[in-house]
Parts: sequence; structure tokens; C-alpha cells
Amino acid sequence: RGKRAFIAGIADDNGYGWAIAKSLAAAGAEILVGTWVPALNIFETSLRRGKFDESRVLPDGSLMEITKVYPLDAVYDTPEDVPEDVKTNKRYAGSSKWTVKEVAESVKEDFGSIDILVHSLANGPEVSKPLLETSRYGYLAAISASSYSYVSLLQHFVPIMNPGGASISLTYIASERIIPGYGGGMSSAKAALESDTQVLAFEAGRKHGIRVNTISAGPLRSRAAKAIGFIDMMIDYSLENAPLQKELSAEEVGNAAAFLASPLASAITGTVLYVDNGLNAMGVGV
Ligand code: NAI
Repeated sequence: RGKRAFIAGIADDNGYGWAIAKSLAAAGAEILVGTWVPALNIFETSLRRGKFDESRVLPDGSLMEITKVYPLDAVYDTPEDVPEDVKTNKRYAGSSKWTVKEVAESVKEDFGSIDILVHSLANGPEVSKPLLETSRYGYLAAISASSYSYVSLLQHFVPIMNPGGASISLTYIASERIIPGYGGGMSSAKAALESDTQVLAFEAGRKHGIRVNTISAGPLRSRAAKAIGFIDMMIDYSLENAPLQKELSAEEVGNAAAFLASPLASAITGTVLYVDNGLNAMGVGV
């Protein structure tokens, strides 16, 4: 039987989530997607109208099939957590069952189980503010959307993951080195995500035989990255300073994720894998 993957955090064909979906599909996995509720309409419409068809092409020439797209807002765990103004918001009212618990229940109902869980989402409303100027609200919102969202996803999906399953998230080196511009508590959120990767690897490993790893990815011109505002600078910096002087493609991160999710990585858990042309290893710019 082929493996089944649920990838949270795809809303277009430019980000890491899309590339991971493609690499997993190329390796024979069935693809389920969780899309942020406010982005759902445009994503599904674009998919249906063929706007992504060029980017759906797999190495064998076939098109990646997405079996089902689930609306998801990973900031809310159960319907009781959703505030009234969000419930009645126009962009949310058209969809239902999009809290983490409900999405896991729907996936269980539709498919029974999954083998691979991918967390490819982050959000920090004050990302463009220095940490020293970040509000408590902004900081906690960044942690909620970017770190706890992963704890919650695993919490609710592990019970429907087959033994030998694997989970992957995406992190950024701003967790451990100073990257001016990655503000709003996003650096803190990535530090939490990386630390949690170890604890979750222990807990999910002991209890369910599931592996938990994170990929520390180099800069990519995704929608989220463009919103931060310094992505072109980071790409240029990497081109100049990394051991490998080439632009990082999302596909390279997708392939690393497919490896981590596969039996080839059966003894790898609790790790941060750098997929960044080696930039993390540099001590000085050159
Ligand atoms: P992206 O824009 O393709 O993906 C972020 C996704 O998160 C979007 O689809 C957005 O709709 C979704 N999202 C935001 N809040 C959500 C919520 N509450 N519930 C559900 N979904 C939500 O951008 P990208 O850059 O591919 O991001 C994917 C992951 O890669 C993130 O964790 C990011 O921090 C990480 N990363 C990105 C790097 C880059 O340079 N682009 C570098 C290193 C890590």
C-alpha cells in the first residue's frame, strides 16, 4: 500500500509545503492538504481552474493529484476555542470543521489513517517589528500559530498515524543565530519548535513508534517570506556566503522531506536537518 500524507500549510504553489507534497507524490504517496481557512477559496478555485497545472507536473510527466483539501486554522484546537468574531467572519463562515481536532476527525472518517504528517506553516502578526518592540499579543500569536500549532497537530494526528509513521516541520536558523529582521517573536517561535521536536520525538517515538524531525530551510521567495520583507536580501546573502553558491530550490527541501519521511531515515528522529546550501556552517561572511 502506498503511504498517505497530510500536509498542513499549502495555499499556493510557491511555498515549501507544495514542494514537499510534490516530492512525496513523486515517491508514490497519496496527498491530503490542510489549507488556512481565509486562503481556502482562492486555492481551491486556482486548483480547479488549472492555474497550478504547470507546477503539478511530476518527474514522470504525470500531474500531482491532491486527494482532498481540508480547511484548517491551526490556531484553534476545538470549536469551543473559536471566538465569536472569527466564527461569524465572512471568510470563515463558509467553511466548517476547521479546528485541529475536527480536521483530524474528518481525516479519520474519510481515510482511517495517515503515515506522514507535515507542518509547513507559520504566522507572526508583528514579524516586521524587532523583538525589543514586540507586544505580548504579537509574541504569543507567533508562538501559537508557529509552534503550538505543531504540538496540537501531532497531538490530534498521532492517534491516527500508522506505526513507523513520520512527521516533519519547517524551521529557520533565526532560532539559534541572530537574523535581524526576523522579528515579532518568530525567532522565539522557531526556537520552541526545534526544542519541541526533541521532546515530541521522544514521546511520539516511545508511545507510537513515530519519528519527528524538522528541516531548517534556507531562504525561499514564498508568500510568507515576501511578507517579512527581507527575503531578496537573504537569498543574495546566501548566494554570496554559503558553501554552495546556488539559489536554493523548494524542490531540494521537498526531496529532503521525502527522505526523512521514508524508511531510508528509519533511525533518524529528533533532529534538525539543515537544507540551506550549507550556510549554517559558516562562521563569517566572505
Ligand atoms: P507559505 O506562505 O507557502 O506557507 C505558510 C502557510 O501557512 C500559508 O499557506 C498560510 O496560509 C499558512 N498559515 C498561516 N497561518 C495559519 C494558520 N493559523 N492555520 C493554518 N495555516 C496557516 O510560506 P513558506 O515560506 O513556504 O512557509 C512554510 C514553512 O517554512 C514555515 O514554517 C516557514 O517558517 C518555513 N521556512 C520558510 C523559509 C523561507 O525562506 N520561505 C525559510 C525557513 C523556514
